[in-house]
Amino acid sequence: MDRIRIRGGKPLSGSIHIGGAKNAALPLMTASLLTEDTLTLSNLPHLADISTMAHLLAELGVGMGMNGDAVGGGHMGRVFELNAAGVTETTAPYDLVRTMRASVLVLGPLVARFGRARVSLPGGCAIGARPVDLHLKGLAQLGAEIDLQEGYIEARAPKGGLKGGNVVFPMVSVGATENLLMAAVLAEGETVLFNAAREPEVADLARCLITMGAKIEGVGTDTLKIQGVPSLTGADYSVVPDRIETGSYAVAAAITGGELTLKGASLGLIDSVADILSQAGVEITETDDGLKVSRRNGLSGVDVMTEPYPGFPTDMQAQVMALLATAEGASMITETIFENRFMHVPELARMGANVNVHGASAIVRGVERLSGVQVMATDLRASVSLVLAGLAAEGETMVNRVYHLDRGYERLEEKLAACGADIERLRD
Ligand code: UD1
Repeated sequence: MDRIRIRGGKPLSGSIHIGGAKNAALPLMTASLLTEDTLTLSNLPHLADISTMAHLLAELGVGMGMNGDAVGGGHMGRVFELNAAGVTETTAPYDLVRTMRASVLVLGPLVARFGRARVSLPGGCAIGARPVDLHLKGLAQLGAEIDLQEGYIEARAPKGGLKGGNVVFPMVSVGATENLLMAAVLAEGETVLFNAAREPEVADLARCLITMGAKIEGVGTDTLKIQGVPSLTGADYSVVPDRIETGSYAVAAAITGGELTLKGASLGLIDSVADILSQAGVEITETDDGLKVSRRNGLSGVDVMTEPYPGFPTDMQAQVMALLATAEGASMITETIFENRFMHVPELARMGANVNVHGASAIVRGVERLSGVQVMATDLRASVSLVLAGLAAEGETMVNRVYHLDRGYERLEEKLAACGADIERLRD
């Protein structure tokens, strides 16, 4: 298994290109199942999760053309042409769903267009139980019959297809909102999704569906009103920039006391993160083509609570904890989205961080300096927090099990090395 070796203490300087958002790209890819025309997606990041989704869609019979990188005056990311005219299979098997929970996003589109789907239950994952009950209850509201059999979700639309209905989510779920949105666009009549997730990736999906001919009102709000249409067409759509990649590199600039220009990044997508970082003493300014992030003075502790968008994202919690580990004073970090998302804490503690977890909150008392040691990555965002900590730590940090990183960060070590970090991947 690959490892990443970092010799910390170098302030970063330079510019980093921010790619398309993984969490927007995955549902957009599954939206291709909703039409027999071609959906062309550009600005897709090169990531293991994107390949896993491509693999799953190919198993279902989606034809896929990869245009490589469309480079036209700048970095355009990968371009995929997806065509679901020849889909014959409606089963998403365990071995694929197990490796990536977002595979469950084929459920809504498959039931909507083909009237049936069989998707393996994703099961637990490192950051918590993560059930899919909201996805299933929502689909049932649109008339789907749902059975759980031998570890599989079996969903069937009634005769004549799904019927519009009101779905009130008892809690905010990004994935359930996306699945229901994709189901509702082809359901007969009107669907209203109440307490819908407002994450920019959900809005990106809605905008792409509108380009494909869907009728959706309330994009970006917590109430999505959808008028079903009989069919959708193809479209050309470019994926929104990755706000979590943006935030992670903003922390890289801040934690090393450096200055980075994040090209393609958008301040409007990271308001809550920018707010916390500025409170901690980080400067963020907009430039013509992105954001500039720098830190000249010391960091101070700040309290952070993860919340659904537009609140502070759970996917940035571990990175900000690494940053606050060396801030002056104490910070309280409260995780309200996932019950088991402090797995980076023991690893950061091995690097000298002073963190005490009490239930859903972690008290971080800043220390002067972290020190490089061997650490183990446990999930995607935990992994990047250890890399960030390593960039600031004294001595050598070795991050083991970095395959998690490759699920969500494209060429992370290359991007950081180009800005002066002493970092390399050791391949086994
Ligand atoms: C998505 C993101 C993930 C991010 C998360 C929260 C993708 C591919 N992944 O995950 O990176 O951390 O949003 O912003 O976009 N829940 C239920 N029942 C359900 C569904 C969810 O109880 O049926 C709970 C979850 O256990 C969790 C909370 O709702 O506690 C939020 O989860 P959700 O928003 O659904 O996360 P994902 O869509 O899986």
